[in-house]
Amino acid sequence: MSALATQHKAINLGQGFPDFSMSEELIGLVNKAMKNDFNQYSPMPGWPPLKEAIAEKIDFLYHTSVNPESEITITPGGTYAIYSALTAILHPGDEVIVFEPAYDSYIPNIEINGGRAIPINLVYPDYKSDSYRIDWDAVKNAISPKTKAIIINSPHNPTGSVIMEEDILQLKKIVEGTNIFIISDEVYEHLIFDDIPHQSILRYPELLERSFVCFSFGKVYNCTGWKLGYCVAPAELTKEFRKVHQFNCFSCHTPTQVALSEFLKNRDAYLSLSSFMQQKRDYFKRLMQDTRFTMHESHGSYFICGTYERISDENDRDFAIRVTKEAGVATIPVSVFYHNGKDDKVLRFCFSKKEETLDAAVKKLINL
Ligand SMILES: Cc1ncc(COP(=O)(O)O)c(C=O)c1O
Repeated sequence: MSALATQHKAINLGQGFPDFSMSEELIGLVNKAMKNDFNQYSPMPGWPPLKEAIAEKIDFLYHTSVNPESEITITPGGTYAIYSALTAILHPGDEVIVFEPAYDSYIPNIEINGGRAIPINLVYPDYKSDSYRIDWDAVKNAISPKTKAIIINSPHNPTGSVIMEEDILQLKKIVEGTNIFIISDEVYEHLIFDDIPHQSILRYPELLERSFVCFSFGKVYNCTGWKLGYCVAPAELTKEFRKVHQFNCFSCHTPTQVALSEFLKNRDAYLSLSSFMQQKRDYFKRLMQDTRFTMHESHGSYFICGTYERISDENDRDFAIRVTKEAGVATIPVSVFYHNGKDDKVLRFCFSKKEETLDAAVKKLINL
């Protein structure tokens, strides 16, 4: 959709990236690190002061003590961390439960490792929940002796739904007494709205002991192109994770790690992100009231979904392509996040944009 947006000079509300600048201070710190000659390989698991700063942040946010040396690994992004975790644990024939719609890397990452994805549909917003939710009975029924892992993602791409404490309790019950691993994709950790606390797996020692918890600095500091993240996992799991990491990436960009080890000390920089992005969500939602889309609720991430049932009965791919070409706004048809292309006539919009970009896009969508 981004290529189509460029081709048709459409406003890109499809791909998830901010169109505003990141922190000048952080750019300055990378610059300083380069000038100070931090330009050679850093240690394989990551720049030690950065891992220490992450451990401090985890202690501050989630009251969990994590050993920076043996339980944190710096990675080139969150996607890579998820891939490495799957590679560390999967054997041919292993099953991994994923919730659909799902971030598009999960199923290919499972399959390339010889595993089998077991997709479970999230429940479409209904009277019980204003956003998509997990059907835990369906999860119970999907567990088999081959179940190796469950991938969870909160805040969720593409739906903007979030996991609540009740979900964690259900998850605990399901995995208790099994050898099932959890891969928790928490790249939108700081993009959570409406005063809902982020239910990080890091808060729950009984879950953390079987988990790989994956994060992305790109999402926290509005620099998705930096591709830097980290994985937190117990020492035994981290050991396996690093066997993959050592011979794949080996070590990540040093000056960026040096800069982040300083910048992480500024708590406001990450704590202020939720309210900053919530304003964008609210702004976009208000504008969309003047269109014929019916918007779902989004409690987190960069995204909000909406159905176009009142506009057209086309399938979502055709509709999204037509809207890009004719109205000049690119979005993502949500069917692409289902292995079987399930089409609920829903589009995903990225609101992590300047207000003028959102204004211009909605002006075009009003005409549909
Ligand atoms: C759910 C989810 N996980 C992971 C990522 C990727 O993070 P990174 O760019 O750090 O690989 C994204 C990016 O869009 C995402 O939406």
